[in-house]
Amino acid sequence: MLKKLFIITWIFMPIIFSGCGYEPNQEISSPKNLVKVQTNINQAGQFYYKILFKDKIVIDSSTIGFEFMNMPPIGKNLKILRAKHETDTETWEMIWGEQREVVNDYSQLKIDLQEQNNLKRKFSVIFRVYDDGVGFAFNFPKQRNIDSVTITKELTQFRLTGDHKTWWTPGDWDIYEHLYNTTRVSEIDAISKRSHNNLAQTYIPYNAVNTPVTMKTEDGIYLSFHEANLNNYAGMTLRVDTENLVLTSELVGNDFGWKVKRQTPFLTPWRTIQIAERAGDLIESNLIVNLNEPNILADVSYIKPMKYVGIWWEMHLGKSSWDMASGKHGATTENAKRYIDFAAENGIGGVLIEGWNTGWENWVGEDREGIFDFVTPYPDYNLREVVSYAKDKGVEIIMHHETSAAISTYEKQMEATFSLCEDLGIHLVKTGYVGQIIPDGYYHHGQYMVNHYRKVIETAAKYKVAVDAHEPIKDTGERRTFPNMLSREGLRGNEFNAWASDGGNPPEHLTIVPFTRMLSGPIDFTPGIFDIKFNKYKKDNQVNTTLAHQLALYVVIYSPIQMAADLPENYEGHPAFQFIRDVGVNWDETKVLDGEIGEFVTIARKERETGNWFVGSVTDENAREITIPLSFLDEGKTYRATIYKDGADAHWDKNPTSYEIENKEVTMTDELQIKLAPGGGVAISLMIN
Ligand code: NOJ
Ligand code: CA
Repeated sequence: MLKKLFIITWIFMPIIFSGCGYEPNQEISSPKNLVKVQTNINQAGQFYYKILFKDKIVIDSSTIGFEFMNMPPIGKNLKILRAKHETDTETWEMIWGEQREVVNDYSQLKIDLQEQNNLKRKFSVIFRVYDDGVGFAFNFPKQRNIDSVTITKELTQFRLTGDHKTWWTPGDWDIYEHLYNTTRVSEIDAISKRSHNNLAQTYIPYNAVNTPVTMKTEDGIYLSFHEANLNNYAGMTLRVDTENLVLTSELVGNDFGWKVKRQTPFLTPWRTIQIAERAGDLIESNLIVNLNEPNILADVSYIKPMKYVGIWWEMHLGKSSWDMASGKHGATTENAKRYIDFAAENGIGGVLIEGWNTGWENWVGEDREGIFDFVTPYPDYNLREVVSYAKDKGVEIIMHHETSAAISTYEKQMEATFSLCEDLGIHLVKTGYVGQIIPDGYYHHGQYMVNHYRKVIETAAKYKVAVDAHEPIKDTGERRTFPNMLSREGLRGNEFNAWASDGGNPPEHLTIVPFTRMLSGPIDFTPGIFDIKFNKYKKDNQVNTTLAHQLALYVVIYSPIQMAADLPENYEGHPAFQFIRDVGVNWDETKVLDGEIGEFVTIARKERETGNWFVGSVTDENAREITIPLSFLDEGKTYRATIYKDGADAHWDKNPTSYEIENKEVTMTDELQIKLAPGGGVAISLMIN
């Protein structure tokens, strides 16, 4: 169902009295008048904008501008040529998602600007104003004096109105796998976060944060800054002026001095600011996906939300290895069949197999170019036999492509390997980009790699394959246009708990992630570790949550593919595994019932097809008692509630595996009182009777 209404309300063509200093002031309001954007030109001829929420300024006068390698900067001596107001409303359907129907209701203001001197260059700023935030982008039309641009700086400002509390990760050009810091804006010190302890590269050139970055003002308003539809452009970090409390876009670059090369005409990605009075409204917002183009894939039949297990955690624990030379190769035909049997017996849709292809002996070595082969299995792994065994059991195989960031090696084989997938009937590939980018001089989040990641999505689609990217470019909502872009990592996932020397992810981690990283899109976090301490394999590492917290993540963290990450032997016969069997992965509706960033969050989701509801709640290192009103349930229906909660003595460190299961019948008039242990959580299935 697609409803679309496109109204141009009025076109304003101002008369410019040159020399008399008069410039027209423009204002635009969101459909329900909650958010306003005001724009004008200042004394220096700079264009600026302000954002108001409920008539209070949330972003103060902020200018824009660009610097180039091939021409003078643009940003001063501007005049407004014309301004055009429009409104648009549509409802579109998510092929898979947190909800089925998405309302896309906004007012648009397009302001065409021109330089008064110099080269008389023209460009436009387009604002889309929603009731839950603003997106704006720059459009450079084809024109006499700009044929192509080499951008060295984009200088989009976001002038804050106070020293807000901020949840941030450093503006690393290479990896998003950092813990969240909670500080005032004035205290942001990204440079001090340079050290990094895994194989991935870290490069933090200046005091900037990555997006989404989320803030809370003294008045209790939440703001989150990000971008939408990042395509053929560099990723944006936000440089922090800790004295004046101004953020300025700082594009990810390369070692050659430029940030973006484009031909005109082109539109930049949308710069987005989500605005909410309730922390949970940030999660319920659809601003980012709405600022992407509708689906362009004709065939989406192969794209299947599902749960999966995999030959994966065992490598991170050191039980087995990706490579064969180690003598403990994980991806053997026999082991693959064991996982397939387990998946088939438990209604799990897929099995990921890492370490199936040759090249792992030197995968992080100096000379990584050309070592990975994406079509040749190790001799002890019979690819065709495994695939046909899985097919007979109704299980999908998820192929793994670790590129170790050797981009040309992968690009040379991309068509062949995706075509092999099509041939075998494999419809999902997990990619990975550990290490420094080859060719030299490029970084994971710059334009070169943005284009590579997009090329992978497009090539995969051609062969009916969906993608789960690790060490990805951040999500900016491209799943709307390419629904085969299923999920991605792009944060400190559960894997860090297996080997990080800094103690792993602290209990508060997953109470921040839903309000920051998750605003950008689905997360392949790989939850569900039951053997929390895994002392048999690693004495110095552990997961820093309770078991019930791990279960809750299947609801709290959104992803259309969710891994049951632990070893099958840790699930066999375990009563709590029933929740993982039952929990949905594709939703009709999502409701954030309650939450405070860095403290706790409670989310309810209604499964498509069955109408069953699932609830997850996680807390930080503090125990707390929560009340869950079940008023979201359907009227007149009774549900069988199964509550997987922390045991009375549970504690993320002292007693993480203590849990209880409670069964009861409930209706929409009931309320549940639940105690969450330190680092704990609760997972609830509510099945229609
Ligand atoms: C890092 C990924 O995040 C992880 O899931 C994968 O197992 C390793 N790279 C090896 O590719
Ligand atoms: Ca990773």
